[in-house]
Order: sequence, then C-alpha cells, then structure tokens
Amino acid sequence: MEEEIREIQKQAIKEANQAETPDHIEQLRVKYLGRKGLVNRLFSELGSISAEEKPKVGNMLNSLKNSITETLSEAKSRIGVARDDLKCERIDVTMPGTKRPLGNLHPLTQVTNRINEIFLNLGFKIAEGPEIETPHYNFEALNIPLEHPSRDAFDTFYIDDNTLLRSQTSTVQIRVMEKEKPPLQVIAPGKVFRPDATDASHSFMFHQVEGFMVDKDIKFSDLKGILTLFSKQMFGEDIKMRFRPHFFPFTEPSAEVDISCMICKGKGCRVCSHKGWLEILGAGMIHPRLFEMVGYDPKKWTGFAFGMGVERIAMLKFGVDDIRLFFENDLRFLRQF
Ligand code: PHE
Repeated sequence: MEEEIREIQKQAIKEANQAETPDHIEQLRVKYLGRKGLVNRLFSELGSISAEEKPKVGNMLNSLKNSITETLSEAKSRIGVARDDLKCERIDVTMPGTKRPLGNLHPLTQVTNRINEIFLNLGFKIAEGPEIETPHYNFEALNIPLEHPSRDAFDTFYIDDNTLLRSQTSTVQIRVMEKEKPPLQVIAPGKVFRPDATDASHSFMFHQVEGFMVDKDIKFSDLKGILTLFSKQMFGEDIKMRFRPHFFPFTEPSAEVDISCMICKGKGCRVCSHKGWLEILGAGMIHPRLFEMVGYDPKKWTGFAFGMGVERIAMLKFGVDDIRLFFENDLRFLRQF
C-alpha cells in the first residue's frame, strides 16, 4: 500500500502539470479527491491493515490528500494567470478609441484670462482678495466714510454690521498696499456683489478686474496709455477711447472710460443706445488719502487705478445682449464660445 501511495502521488503531480484548462483540473480533483476517488478508496482500505502499520499509513494517506490538494490548486492558479495574461495582451487595433468630449472654458473665464494675459504682458502681477469683507476695506480705506452719499452708489449686501460681500474689487488695492511697498503694478480679478434687481444688464453678482500702478511720477497719461493699449488688444486696433470726467471717492481726478461701439463703428445703433460709445470701466489717479491711510508718503508716490466689469466686456466682445445668459448654465449658450 505504501508503494501505491507513492505511485498515486507521482501520477497526480504529473497529470496536474500537464493540465491546461480549469476543466482538466476539475476532472483530476474528482479522480483523486472525489467521494469515489483514489484517495478515498485507499482510506477505505485502511481497515484491512495491521494495527502497527495503521498509524503510519494513515499519516501517509493524510499527507497524500494534502499534497494533491495543494498541487491542484497551484496548477489552477498557473492556468488562471496564463489565461489572464493572454486576455490583457490581446489588443484589437480596429476598435474605435474612447471619445472623451472636451469641455471649454466659460466665456467669462475666457475673457478674464484674456484681460489677465494682456496686463501680465505689460508687467502687472495678479493679486486676489476675499469676497467677504469688512466695511473698512470696502469703504473707509477707500475714502468712503460712513454717511458719505457715495456709499449708496456701491449698494452692498451686509451680513452683519461688520461683515459684507464686497461690492467692488478696489478692496484689493488697499490689501496689497498695506502689505507691499511701491513700485506696484497689480491686477485683481474677482467676484463682486450688489443688491440690484436682476435684468438684462444687472446681476446681484458679477466680476470685475481691478488694476493699479504705484510708482514715482505716474501720470494720467500713463493711465491713458495703458488703457488704450488694453482696449486695442482686447477689441481691435481701430477702437477709439473716450475719457469722461467722473467722480470716485478713491481717485482724483476720476474718469469713466468709453470705447467706440464696435457694432456700428461709432455711428450709433441699438447696442450703444445710438450714442456710438460704450462704457467699459471707471478709472483715475489714486487719491492721496488712500496712500496716507496705508502709510505711503503721498508726496513721493503717485498712481492710477481702474476697475472694469468683465460681463460688460464679454457682452461687447461676443455680442451677448443679456447678462443672465452667463449664469444659467445652459449648454446651448455655453457651447457657442
Ligand atoms: N470700484 C469702481 C466701481 O466698482 C471702479 C473703479 C476702480 C473706479 C478703480 C476707479 C478706480 O465702480
């Protein structure tokens, strides 16, 4: 019987090594380990063995069973791995690729990026400030004291007495000047909020790009030069500009800046309300009071600042006649840009 056990062991190993499919393995399992298999048959013959021999042969049978179980499971994993390998290596070169539809940037992001790019090329750097602000940065530090009538012009969402949603990006002028010393050449893009009733040209949230420059001997002509360069790059070489006197508490002198209507080339049409001009930004020379408040010497430093509405510029550039379209997330609109 010992001889027979060794024979069966050898044979099982040989057959397991030759097995090529999971079916073969299953057949071997039935043949050796099944209820009526070879191993069980030997176990049933144990009864006819002498008492001294029994424990030894019993042990041999147990290890035979274990070793065949192990051999078969090794053979099974060998076959499994080989098959998986084949599966991964098979490449159907005729199969169409996976199409990943590319999205595109929101028109307002595109316009903001373009504005940033133009000013970055002129040596400006980008700064950002918080959208939740204090009245100090939104008003006082910008020379708009409490009770000043112009505070109404920047109608504001208050969260509580000392917290508000900024109504202009001019806040970033102050934040940067507090932290850094001139010379400065900075643009600050971002969201602003005003409690306006929503219509075709008003939204309670919109975007501005603030820009400012502080150095020795900065003049109004520098402001004009930079803004003229900007408009030509943004809207085209033949665009004309117009500076109208205006009032902002934080600049003196101040101006509102118009560009000639690109639709009618200045002749007058519906888009420009037959004026031939479109307002795109507010600007001026930074008020000396602002410099004093951030600790700059107003006799030494001068500077200009401007703030433009991104939606306004996007509407003009793309010919969009309703600001609400930018915020509705309608893909039929957004896919056009
Ligand atoms: N902050 C002004 C506004 O929101 C724009 C502006 C910025 C004007 C800088 C002058 C200088 O209307």
